[in-house]
Amino acid sequence: MNGKTVRNPDHWVDLDRDRVTLDGKPLRAASKAYVLLYKPKGYLTTYRDPGDRPTVYDLIAGAGIWLFPVGRLDLDTSGLLLMTNDTAFAERISNPDREVPKTYQIKAATLLTDDRIERLRQGVELSDGPTRPALVRRLRDGARHTHLEMTITEGRNRQVRRMLEAVDSRVLKLVRTAIGPLRIGDLPIGKWRKLAADEVAALAGGPLSASGRNRGAVR
Ligand code: URA
Repeated sequence: MNGKTVRNPDHWVDLDRDRVTLDGKPLRAASKAYVLLYKPKGYLTTYRDPGDRPTVYDLIAGAGIWLFPVGRLDLDTSGLLLMTNDTAFAERISNPDREVPKTYQIKAATLLTDDRIERLRQGVELSDGPTRPALVRRLRDGARHTHLEMTITEGRNRQVRRMLEAVDSRVLKLVRTAIGPLRIGDLPIGKWRKLAADEVAALAGGPLSASGRNRGAVR
């Protein structure tokens, strides 16, 4: 690397700056790839499961390049999952200071009163602190279940499920339908597609929220 032999496998390499050769041939950084996967329920957002359950990598095997998931969806959640090899992009999407909105459709285990929906909007108390205000829309009521659309700007572990539990209900079905301006559209479940350059730019751009600016992060 840069004319010297490096034997330490953990040596940090920046392929934008360092000149790296292997057996005399120059190495180049892999080109950046961005994939939108419509994850079905029953697939883990991990590389390998000791119990041999299916993972999202089974679904993107045809992508032909190493990608990692941007955040995660629970085993029983379906919907939009971004996968990429661009760590800076993933950081920008996941950084809570940027408040990238994530939209979910939810089938609740109960009917929800207006009062409970209002509590979800205002923010509920969870074991790791109060949630930020959310956009919550009643889609319809069945005989025993309320269907909601909820947009949150955080990505805490099992957040939507815990929010519904905080208003004495439970999630029966959870689908992520959008991340920022990106929607699943007519992509069939279990399938993936590459993002267009303008979709990547729209997701990666955008100003920091006021709280992010205060902390002086990213951009
Ligand atoms: N919130 C959850 O509870 N689960 C998910 O998979 C995503 C958001």
